[in-house]
Amino acid sequence: MASIRDYLFDTAFLDRSIDYLAETLQLAITLLDSEGTPVAGRGNEGCDTPASRVYPFRFSSDIGSIVCAAPNQDLLSQAEPHILYCLASLNSQLLRETELRETSEEMLQLSSQLNFLFKVAKKIIGIDDLKKCYQIILDEISQAIKADQGFIHTKGRWDEDIRVTHGMTDEEVDSAQKSICLRLPAAGSTIICTREDGGSLLYSPIKEKDSQSGQMVFLRAAGHRAFSASEKQLVGIIENIISPTFETLRLYDSLQDLYLNTVKALAAAIDAKDEYTHGHSFRVAKYALAIGEQLRLDSQQLNDLEIAGYMHDLGKIGISELILGKPGRLTCEEFRLIQKHPVFTDKILQPIKLPIRILEGAIQHHERMDGSGYPGGLAGTDISQFGRIIAVADVFDALTSKRPYRDAMPVEESLRTLCAGMDTLFDREMIIAFISALRSDQSKEVLGDIKMGLKHDDLQNLNQFLIELTEFAMSAKRE
Ligand SMILES: [Fe+2]
Repeated sequence: MASIRDYLFDTAFLDRSIDYLAETLQLAITLLDSEGTPVAGRGNEGCDTPASRVYPFRFSSDIGSIVCAAPNQDLLSQAEPHILYCLASLNSQLLRETELRETSEEMLQLSSQLNFLFKVAKKIIGIDDLKKCYQIILDEISQAIKADQGFIHTKGRWDEDIRVTHGMTDEEVDSAQKSICLRLPAAGSTIICTREDGGSLLYSPIKEKDSQSGQMVFLRAAGHRAFSASEKQLVGIIENIISPTFETLRLYDSLQDLYLNTVKALAAAIDAKDEYTHGHSFRVAKYALAIGEQLRLDSQQLNDLEIAGYMHDLGKIGISELILGKPGRLTCEEFRLIQKHPVFTDKILQPIKLPIRILEGAIQHHERMDGSGYPGGLAGTDISQFGRIIAVADVFDALTSKRPYRDAMPVEESLRTLCAGMDTLFDREMIIAFISALRSDQSKEVLGDIKMGLKHDDLQNLNQFLIELTEFAMSAKRE
């Protein structure tokens, strides 16, 4: 049962209309609800009112009517234009208020959607790992629409598959996808359907330009309420906004990949200039990464450190192969020229808008803690963290590599040489981090090819040696 009073936000005009019809036009007014029960009345109660008419309120659902009664038909007919005017005014008030209510609800919904998007955007800004972004988006949407389970299956860089899940095993995703393929073969828009087990499924395609690049699926278990139209609308809106973001992220990721591959190709070109330093930049990048991981650098820092490792000898591109690969002793002039390679690196990289830490790491790897290095003669922490990391990685690789004038130094001896330069040449923290990386790397993958020279016993000996060396480095620090 419903009455016009329940629908009006402001009932003052209704009351004034009833007063006017009752007092000015001398009518008996009765307000009826949708079931015909009187909810209010005014005027001429004791009078004889043989003429009466029922005027229903014009609205989408039955909200009752108003009954106007007069002593005779003539009086009722004379009053009718006034009655109809009041009814029209009430109907337009109903319409205005309904529109206002709907607009307020829409604005509230829009505001909550904007808040949601803002929250998600804040979480994914700065994350360059595409899969992590998808995972955050999936978890946030699942939480917002109270989905028990969900997954996103889409394309990553170079079109490889990316699948992230929320509360689902891979087998459950496979089974849900099979059922979607069978039941929703060509669903090009967001839809809700009931699963075979009675649970609710919300499906949204992820679109890129004109094609579909993936799908977002949310599940709610049988026995719980089905997804609602407003939840479907929310996912649809999010998909519309996020799809271009997905595409941008994917392109950005591809660009990052392309950039890294270009840097690697450059590094390979530099290493190729000198047969004795073949693979040097790659190994330095690997050792630097191992140190960075021990220092718990974040993924962006590690990414930049790896690039700085690849680029650290870029300036050698400007030095003749005859000098770089000279088997005998270098002349002072040749040595001075080789010492210029960090300056050349700086000149090559300056015009490119690289993060400053990459640039610093690349050009400061020959600086030494006591200020005896080059090109800037920087000392201590005036040398950037990346510079101090790459210095250790660079010297370790130089020592463990064969040179035209000497054999490769064994791993233990190389580490001992590094330790001998602790605080004076190299940052103690970086040496300890490197030894720690080698210790935690059970199969010594970090050492790569140079571990091939170690026998099984040597590997065990190396572990024991690393423990003793750490103790030495730490105790020297305490002193
Ligand atoms: Fe160098």
